[in-house]
Amino acid sequence: SRLDVDPDAYDAGDHESFMHKEMSEQPTTARRVLSGRLDERFGTGHLGGLNLDPRDLRAIRRVKILGCGSAFYVGQMGATLLEELARVPADAEAASEFRYRNPIIEPETLYVAVSQSGETIDTLLAVQEIRRKGGRVIGLVNVVGSAIAREVDGGIYLHAGPEVAVASTKALTNMFLAFAMLAIQLGRVRDLSIADGRRLIAALNALPEQIEQVLATEDALAETARRLAGAESLFFVGRVRGYPVAREGAQKFKEISYRHAEAYQTSELKHGPLALVSPEVPTVAIVPDDELVERNVGALHEIDARGGPLVVVTHENVSVGDLDCERIVVPKSERELDPILLTIPLQLLAYHAALELGHDIDKPRNLAKSVTVE
Ligand code: G6P
Repeated sequence: SRLDVDPDAYDAGDHESFMHKEMSEQPTTARRVLSGRLDERFGTGHLGGLNLDPRDLRAIRRVKILGCGSAFYVGQMGATLLEELARVPADAEAASEFRYRNPIIEPETLYVAVSQSGETIDTLLAVQEIRRKGGRVIGLVNVVGSAIAREVDGGIYLHAGPEVAVASTKALTNMFLAFAMLAIQLGRVRDLSIADGRRLIAALNALPEQIEQVLATEDALAETARRLAGAESLFFVGRVRGYPVAREGAQKFKEISYRHAEAYQTSELKHGPLALVSPEVPTVAIVPDDELVERNVGALHEIDARGGPLVVVTHENVSVGDLDCERIVVPKSERELDPILLTIPLQLLAYHAALELGHDIDKPRNLAKSVTVE
């Protein structure tokens, strides 16, 4: 569309594609979105652009997040963060569906529109519908001065810089970080303690370097990706915090490798998809070191028993017992923030599978960077 970033105006430099360049920028761009927005003394976020004072924040009874594609999946991660840290009911919905079902707009709900481009028509029209009905909307938007940025009551700019590749990487990471700061700030006017606020801020500050550590494992991930590229069909599974990670991982994989990749809750495997598990259908499983780890590993044994190849994205401390699998280990954060570090290797898996298959990584077939017409 006319609003797609013109790749000729930018330069991928030493990188073989924009997606690779943008993935590698993440430690820097992550630092940028956090910069000046964390208040270590009071253990809270300092988000100047929200246009919401503490009284407004306290009055919020519910959060509704809207976005499309990757912005929708990171919205699901954001909803979990908001529920965990601020104890406010929150959920994410595809903006493309929301506006077609005559949504009920409530004055005590905070609506959050998430968009890299700020021009996605489905998200923009959802924002307009909410505002027309008197709802309050904030934006998590990357492109300054874009249509959504101009329409909303306030928001958080993502400061990821221009993103050219259709598959979103650095903007998505900054969306997650923006949600984390919002959840901490909202939590701190409610029941999140100063100690918890400081604990999370310290963990946020450590993330850019941890992202760098994941990126440094690229060669090993490329090898795994080449094996996965041979499969016609794959599952991505995770639970609770890990489920949106699995959805985003499957989305990336199918967008650029053109392989069928389907995300499921690990807990739902036995209610259907297990019928498809076979030596030809690998599963990428998100298994963080959290309160669900034993159940997760148990479910993976069901896959293993049926000969399904397994790639497990996990933490050092997680023991998978005698499970026959390939382990991808990411650095540990605070458990609420783990999802973003679990997402990074999935970018590299999709990237190297697509590279192996010889696809146009930055411009996958049938897709546009931003969909600006209905
Ligand atoms: C398109 C792209 C997706 C992207 C979605 C939302 O469908 O192909 O990769 O996630 O739009 O874009 P936005 O600019 O609103 O984040």
